[in-house]
Amino acid sequence: MKIGIDALGVAVPRRYVDMVELARARGVEPGKYVDGLGAREMAVAEPGEDTVALAALAGRRALAASEIDRASLGLLVVGTETGVDHSKPVASFVHGLLELPQTMRVYDTQHACYGGTAGLMAAVEWIASGAAAGRSALVICSDIARYGVGTAGEPTQGAGAVAMVVSANPALVEIDVGVSGAASTHVFDFWRPLGLREAQVDGHYSVQCYLDAVSAAYRGWKVRAIERGLVRGAPGELASEQLARICYHVPFCKMARKAHLQVRRCELEDAGTAWDPAAEQAGLASFKRQVDPTLPLCARIGNIYTGSLYLGLAGLLHAQAAELAGSRIGLFSYGSGCTSEFFSGVVGKAAAARIAAAKLGDLLEAREKISVAEYERIMAQPPTSPLEDAPAGDGFRFLGVKDHRRQYAGK
Ligand code: HMG
Repeated sequence: MKIGIDALGVAVPRRYVDMVELARARGVEPGKYVDGLGAREMAVAEPGEDTVALAALAGRRALAASEIDRASLGLLVVGTETGVDHSKPVASFVHGLLELPQTMRVYDTQHACYGGTAGLMAAVEWIASGAAAGRSALVICSDIARYGVGTAGEPTQGAGAVAMVVSANPALVEIDVGVSGAASTHVFDFWRPLGLREAQVDGHYSVQCYLDAVSAAYRGWKVRAIERGLVRGAPGELASEQLARICYHVPFCKMARKAHLQVRRCELEDAGTAWDPAAEQAGLASFKRQVDPTLPLCARIGNIYTGSLYLGLAGLLHAQAAELAGSRIGLFSYGSGCTSEFFSGVVGKAAAARIAAAKLGDLLEAREKISVAEYERIMAQPPTSPLEDAPAGDGFRFLGVKDHRRQYAGK
């Protein structure tokens, strides 16, 4: 049975800051943010645009882009690390806001940025097991990345949600079920203790943890992919070269480049070949071809944690779905703490038409650029502040807390 992502929907905050302006305000050479990290713009979420509001909007857009009947949904999973309640999941709020059927499983999944992939894999395997009995799933990744004003992590913030309809006979990407490599280690590279709004992070160590994880996860995928005949493994043939594109988890765009060079290093190491300047040049050329096309949305939105990998996928399909139809692509999901998974899938023949229905071209056009001073004012607002004015269009918004209950509005 073919199983995978049938439709996508993306939601981002209505405001953003320009990274050159942010760098100047921090007394940093703009080249560090723009070239050193690969960031052009950064989404700024107001407290009223919380994880629930973003998730519900992305979910509504994914359902509008798909052709499935809502009554055929049997599972709603939200992957998030910025939940709004210790007990009630974001998925429960979204289930109500989208008026989804009562007869569904509804829950959140959490492991830092890997939470969305946990949801996607649960949905895929639920369908593969036969338990879905013909029903589809809605998987939503929704987060607000917050390190704080003036910190080293500040230019790697962002916010947004990506929703995916997961079904049999998917239009966008058929996942290679059972062909993945996972890697996990107990580390303190990035975490957010209970009660803190800002993440704690050991930045350079987190980059190293990510690189260690991608090495192990990629090698796990490669062994299974060769065994299953998805890629060739003869001496001199690089398995990663046989993937038309590779989407990595993107905390900042430069990280995808580091990850891709690491995968290439693993390939050469496994073949007993030295990593030298020529190998680095070949790696950079393959980055340009295989990875760069996945980064345009990420560079203009920033880290959206659980959704970052899928934001890269959305941007890639928006730009190149027709050209990639029938091609196998790789995906790498990393969640600090840490756990990770490298997997793959094949872009569908109907992908171009289906991604057009997600209207990603309108996504960034609708946003408003704000000054660094305005961004700092928003960052200082308490988390319970309602949105100052109603969002235009099809958005949802958080209205405040009444009797310990979060209130929402939306069209
Ligand atoms: P930093 O120490 O301020 O930056 O923090 P740096 O000094 O390492 O410089 C960054 C890059 O800019 C370097 O390039 C510099 O050379 C370059 P690299 O050596 O890395 O290739 N640079 C310049 N380039 C051009 N012109 C210039 C210039 N100046 C310097 N003038 C750091 C950087 C990423 C550590 C920081 O922003 C941070 O802590 N971010 C948050 C943590 C993070 O994103 N970690 C990523 C891996 S962990 C992960 O992905 C999980 C995560 O998403 C969370 C989750 O799972 O939930 C974060």
